[in-house]
Formats: sequence, structure tokens, C-alpha cells
Amino acid sequence: MSRIRIIKVSFKESIMRGIPNKLPLKRERTHSSNRAPKRKDILSLAEKKLAIRNALRYFPEDWHRELALEFAQELNDYGRIYMYRFQPDYEMYARPISEYPAKSIQAAGIMLMIQNNLDPAVAQHPDELITYGGNGAVFQNWAQYLLTMQYLSEMTDDQTLHMYSGHPMGLFPSSALAPRVIVTNGMMIPNYSKPDDWERYNALGVTQYGQMTAGSYMYIGPQGIVHGTTITVMNAFRMKLDANDTPAGKIFLTAGLGGMSGAQPKAGNIVGCITICAEVNSNAAHKRHSQGWVDELIDNLDDLVSRVTLAQSQEEVVSIAYVGNVVDIWERFAEDEIFIHVGSDQTSLHNPFAGGYYPVGLSFEESNQMMAEDPQKFKELVYASLRRHAAAVNTHTSKGTYFFDYGNAFLLESSRAGADILAQNGIDFKYPSYVQDILGPMCFDYGFGPFRWVCASGLDEDLAKTDEIAARVMREIMFDSPPAIQQQMGDNIKWIDEANQNKMVVGSKARILYADSEGRIKIAEAFNQAVANGELSGPVILGRDHHDVSGTDSPYRETSNIYDGSKFTADMAIHNVIGDSFRGATWVSIHNGGGVGWGEVINGGFGMVLDGSEKASQGLESMLLFDVNNGIARRSWARNPHAQFAIKREMERNQKLKITLAQGVRDDLLDNLFN
Ligand SMILES: NC(=O)c1ccc[n+]([C@@H]2O[C@H](COP(=O)([O-])OP(=O)(O)OC[C@H]3O[C@@H](n4cnc5c(N)ncnc54)[C@H](O)[C@@H]3O)[C@@H](O)[C@H]2O)c1
Repeated sequence: MSRIRIIKVSFKESIMRGIPNKLPLKRERTHSSNRAPKRKDILSLAEKKLAIRNALRYFPEDWHRELALEFAQELNDYGRIYMYRFQPDYEMYARPISEYPAKSIQAAGIMLMIQNNLDPAVAQHPDELITYGGNGAVFQNWAQYLLTMQYLSEMTDDQTLHMYSGHPMGLFPSSALAPRVIVTNGMMIPNYSKPDDWERYNALGVTQYGQMTAGSYMYIGPQGIVHGTTITVMNAFRMKLDANDTPAGKIFLTAGLGGMSGAQPKAGNIVGCITICAEVNSNAAHKRHSQGWVDELIDNLDDLVSRVTLAQSQEEVVSIAYVGNVVDIWERFAEDEIFIHVGSDQTSLHNPFAGGYYPVGLSFEESNQMMAEDPQKFKELVYASLRRHAAAVNTHTSKGTYFFDYGNAFLLESSRAGADILAQNGIDFKYPSYVQDILGPMCFDYGFGPFRWVCASGLDEDLAKTDEIAARVMREIMFDSPPAIQQQMGDNIKWIDEANQNKMVVGSKARILYADSEGRIKIAEAFNQAVANGELSGPVILGRDHHDVSGTDSPYRETSNIYDGSKFTADMAIHNVIGDSFRGATWVSIHNGGGVGWGEVINGGFGMVLDGSEKASQGLESMLLFDVNNGIARRSWARNPHAQFAIKREMERNQKLKITLAQGVRDDLLDNLFN
């Protein structure tokens, strides 16, 4: 009788081994309920062979016969080659930094962040290495993951790993001051950056869609989006209400309880209003309810009207999921004369005909069927629904409702549908986007953005300590800050004071906090000192969302409040990543796509390991100053008044900062020039 000896390989050994010496056994996908959708079958026969040839180059030749068949099957079944056989056996999650086999603490920090992005509790499609957004990939396949972790385990502090869209090109000699990792995702020759180009070149295994924080190892779960949504909704109410009024008993009506949109009711509760969020997919609504992200579920309009009337009369803070179509609510509330203070929409209108937007009048199931069986008819119904949707919104805004576009292409698609949504000049939209009215002028132009950190010890105590440090630093800064930013400071102090009790940590011990240049630098310095003097048990890893002051050039979102014509350029994001790279970042990344689509945006970010060293202290000051003020300088040059204020203030604080300032031009000088 033959005996099989099973040799258990430790986590550290597995990481250091990279691609195993022996061909592992074939395996099926493990998280079968969270599968990535089958991708488009777009390759020609010759291209399919090329995809297999590309995939096999990671492996020794004597495995090729077996793997070629398997990879061809994966390509046929899923439209991509994920190499499931090479998915590791160990658990995937952000371990305490000391558990990673590494010669460089910075490299260990990056391993922690990579594993967090692939943690099944965090990632949307963990088997397919997708963190969020349906296509936000950390790697294209498991061979890339294994090789990358191996490189990180063996690299020293004078080497840099270059990542080409998930593929580790290799370690190159550099210096202790250089980043340990340089990441590019989806960088294409501009003419090859259409959605189908992503399908084709991703299927060939030569590029990937990194979204924003997926392919840059900086995702921290829903917490990030709750903070941004809270700031947006809170300031929307401020724009609508008198200074001494509060959102209590006032209505925020919106739609969507999906990936990002699911944060709306929680944010509404933090703001203190009545949130009504329509969701046509009953499963999504029940899921968010069971997770505690929305308080109540109602599935018919009569009940909704009576519940809302009661909530208004008692000035309740409550969030209600209406299981049904949002258009029905807008129309019914108009009939019943229920006043909506703030309205928006987070259906996925960036993807209107394939499940992003469900037309009124059809059930969820009927829509899904028609989408597949009669796409042309479905498209007509989507457009008809958008015309009704916009008309109902217009009825409410004519009575005083404040409506804003939530970066989901509601206005764009409504205009394509022929809805009455254009401003009088026939070019602009009737309503602003959330960046034009709120996040741009109130946050980004002053330098406030989604700064974040992760406690690498993995300890709750460390996270609580960092919250305390950040709150203390913010209070000190607020004491001397100018009136223009006092409100932002106050909001962010409130957020950090309450962050722990809002219980939003999923995966790594992470925190998000909107802070400006001064705040980010001072908080980071205080963290670095706390690591040095042992107040914190391990390093702190700094980063930010790409959806920030300087990181993202995206003409209909992050840079939609740039009005000098430069919003279709991407110089800012490129300068950002290059500038950060030689100022102390541990890793930098630059991506095509993210949020709004392949070819529509260039966005970048950084990660920085604060290990308590003098080097980290010097790096953080120079890098964070540039990371924020690069964007403020550009926004100021585009004549944004708050950015002009912020950059002048920063120049007063820092004699080495000298920014080119824009001169104002009188309107009457231009009026008769071309008559
Ligand atoms: N939250 C943010 O800060 C932010 C920022 C920028 C852009 N966005 C945009 O918001 C949109 C939503 O993002 P997501 O991740 O939540 O997408 P998602 O697809 O996960 O969720 C959208 C939800 O809307 C529901 N829906 C569609 N049509 C509906 C209708 N007529 N009535 C009621 N419900 C309907 C869908 O069933 C789905 O659950 C995207 O377009 C995204 O780009 C969000």
C-alpha cells in the first residue's frame, strides 16, 4: 500500500517559495458565491492562443501540456485565466506585520496591504483577485500574486519592485530613499483605451483594471465611502438650511443600496436626517438591512408615506430602505406634496443598460429578463424612465429641493435620454455634481481629502491610540485655523471622535479622516513619534484614496470643478505620482480607469510605512506637503478661489514653496472682443 506524505508548509515558507517547485493539485474556486461575472469572449482564435502562451510563461515547460488545457478551459468558462490551481492554501487576511517573512519592513507593510485587499471578508470576488467595483483587480492571476509576495520577502531596502498591471517585472537596484514598489495599472497608449480594449488586453494577460485602491493595495472597506458620503450629505443640508436649523426631521431621498451607494443610509443617520433610499433589488436591500446599514425596510408606497409623515412629525433620525423603484417615490411625494430637502441618486448609471439602472414600471426580474432577451427594448425603457425620473426631480426642485448628481452619470444619461435636464445655455446641466458644489470647493480646494492609515500591529489598541492622537492634533490645529476652514476642522474632529463607535472596521485596523496638508503632516509626524517611543506597538501605514485633491484627473468627478478648460488633461495625477516617488513614498501607483471607467480618468496614490525612523519623519513632511499642494496649486491656477486662499497660506508657512499664481481678468474686457 502506498503512503502519501503530506508535508505542511508554513505561511512564511509558502511566501518565500513563490511558485511551488511541484505542480500543485488542480483546485476549484473556493468562494463560489462571490464569483466574478463571466467576461466578454472577445479574443480571436490567434489571440486566444497568445493568451495561453502568455499565461504559460510563468511555469516550467514540463507543466505546459496540463496547464494549457486547464487555462484554455478557464478562458472559455470565465473569459479570463485566473490560474485557480495556484491559489494558496493559507488564510488570506492582513496579518500583523511581524508575521511576514521580509528583509525590509517596508516590503512587509506592502505584503500586509496586498493580503488585506484579497481577504474574502474585504474583497468582492476573492478567487478572481478582485477587491471592488466588479473589476478592481489586485493581480490578474495567482502566479503574479505568488511571485510578487516572493519578491517582497527577499527584497532589501536598496531594491525596487516594478509592477506592470499586476505582473511583477522584477527587482531593480535602487536606493534606501527610493520607493520599494512602483505600480502602474492599465496604462495604455491613449488610442487603445476604450472599454473593449480593457476586455481584450486583460484577456490576453497584459493589463488590468486597478480601480483606485484595489490595484494600489490601499482599500479599507466601506469605512472610506461612509466618511465621504457623510461629508457630502451634511454639507448638502447646510447649503439648503438656515445656519441655526438642523437636518432633524428633514428628508434626504436617494437610490441604491449597492457597493458604494449602500453607505448612504448610514451617512444619513450620522448627519441626523430622515434618509429614504430606494433599492429595486430586494436581496441588496435585505442584505444592507441585516448588516445594520439601514434601519427599516418598506415595500409599498402607502406605508412609506405614512412612515415618513410620522418620522417628520417626530423629527426622527431614521433610515428607510424602500424596496422598489426610486422614480415611484419621486412621483408619489410630488402628488402628496411631501417636501424633500435634499435629493440625489446613486443607481449605477455609468452602466445604464446592463443592470446599473432599472426602469420604472418593470419588476427587477422582468428587467433582468428583458436586458438579456431584448436589449433594444430595454434601452428604450431605461431612457423613458430617465425622462420621467428627471421630470419628477424637476417638479421637486421647482419647490425648493436641493438636488445634486452623485458622480453616477445621472445627468449625463438623462440628457442622452432627452430628459429636461439641461441648463438655459443648452450646454451645462441644470444641477451640479457633488464635486462641483460640495467636495470640490469645500474640501479639495482647501486640501481636505481622504487621508487614511492602517495599524500594522493589527491591534485594536493601536487603532484607538491613533484615533486619540489624530483628534488631539486636529484640535491643536483648529485653535489657530482661519474661519474659512473652521467648519471642516470641526466636522473632521467629530468624525474621528465617533469613528470607533460607528464600528466600520473590516479587515485591517484602518481609519479614514479628511484632513488638509497641515493636518496630514502633523498627524503623520505624531504617529511616527508614537512608533519611535513605543506608544504604538507597530508601524503605521499611511495612504489615501485616489479620489482626492491631487491624485485624480477625472473631468466629470474629482476635477469637475476645474473651469479653465484643463479638466481633460491628466498632468496633475502624473506629477503627483512622480513627485511622491522621490520624496519618501514607500510605494506609488498610477492607474487608468477607476470609478468612472477605462479611458475616462487617470488616478494615483501612495503608501508610506512610518516605522518611527528619522528617514520616515523627513520623508513624510516633504512628501505629504507635495502630495496635497500639487493639487491645490493646480486648482488655484484654474482660478478656484478657495485653492487660491489655501496655496497662499501654505506659501506663508513654507518659504521654499513658490507657486505661479493666476491674475484675475475683468469680464468686461472680454465681452466685446470677438463681435
Ligand atoms: N458613493 C460615492 O462616493 C460615489 C462617488 C462617485 C460615484 N459614485 C457612483 O454611484 C453609483 C453607485 O455605485 P455602487 O457601487 O453603489 O453601485 P451598485 O451597482 O453596487 O449599486 C447601485 C444600486 O442601484 C440599484 N438601482 C438601479 N436602478 C434603480 C432604480 N431605478 N431604483 C432603485 N434602485 C435602483 C441597483 O439595484 C443597485 O443595487 C456608481 O455609478 C458610482 O460610480 C458613487
